[in-house]
Amino acid sequence: MANDQEKEAAARASLNFIEDGQVVGLGTGSTAAYFIQLLGERVKDGLRIRGIPTSDRSREMASSLGIPLTTLDECQQIDVTVDGADEVDEQLRLIKGGGGALLREKIVASATRQLVIVADASKRVSVLGKFPLPVEVIKFAQALVAKKIEALGAGVQLRRDAKGNPFLTDENNHILDCRFGRIPDADLLARRLSDMPGVVEHGLFIGMASVVLVARGSEIVELRAG
Ligand code: 5RP
Repeated sequence: MANDQEKEAAARASLNFIEDGQVVGLGTGSTAAYFIQLLGERVKDGLRIRGIPTSDRSREMASSLGIPLTTLDECQQIDVTVDGADEVDEQLRLIKGGGGALLREKIVASATRQLVIVADASKRVSVLGKFPLPVEVIKFAQALVAKKIEALGAGVQLRRDAKGNPFLTDENNHILDCRFGRIPDADLLARRLSDMPGVVEHGLFIGMASVVLVARGSEIVELRAG
């Protein structure tokens, strides 16, 4: 599929940002998985890095490939993180969390000097919001938070797993997928969501990405924070 080729091409381009001796944040999702795979090959060839995964899934994949790992307990400064995104706008604001890992992804991003986002061309948008915004909530508060987000104009759905049970994050919380359609003021919405008791984290990543690598066919477009 064209998307998969673009995902792999963007992931491959991100290897240019990795240097020997670095601590590297390992994102989550299908695009980040291409990166982890390619990084594993580099490690086999002698690259020395330590990875900090953003999910249990990525940790399992990285350790199966022999990538040395560390934790935020051991190391609170990450040189570079490579991660995917569900949407990217022209200001390099992101929607993340389609894969359910937004909380650890945001924590790792917040400890990262250079956040490199890898994406296929379908992720680039002029206005965020077509992709339902994931909001991680504690279970106790989920109905209350859902009502408050509906009052902001979104259709809200509790995310479910393949068996129909509520989806559980790695931190044992639930996710509300919030359909805004358009988010004309992402900064304001981010503040409003952060201010809601019961919201653990939301999928708006603002002012975090340093570089976005978007693959369109075999071409890589590099967007940089201004
Ligand atoms: C996981 C994420 C992913 O980066 C995002 O969902 C993109 O995934 P994919 O690369 O599979 O399209 O935020 O929580």
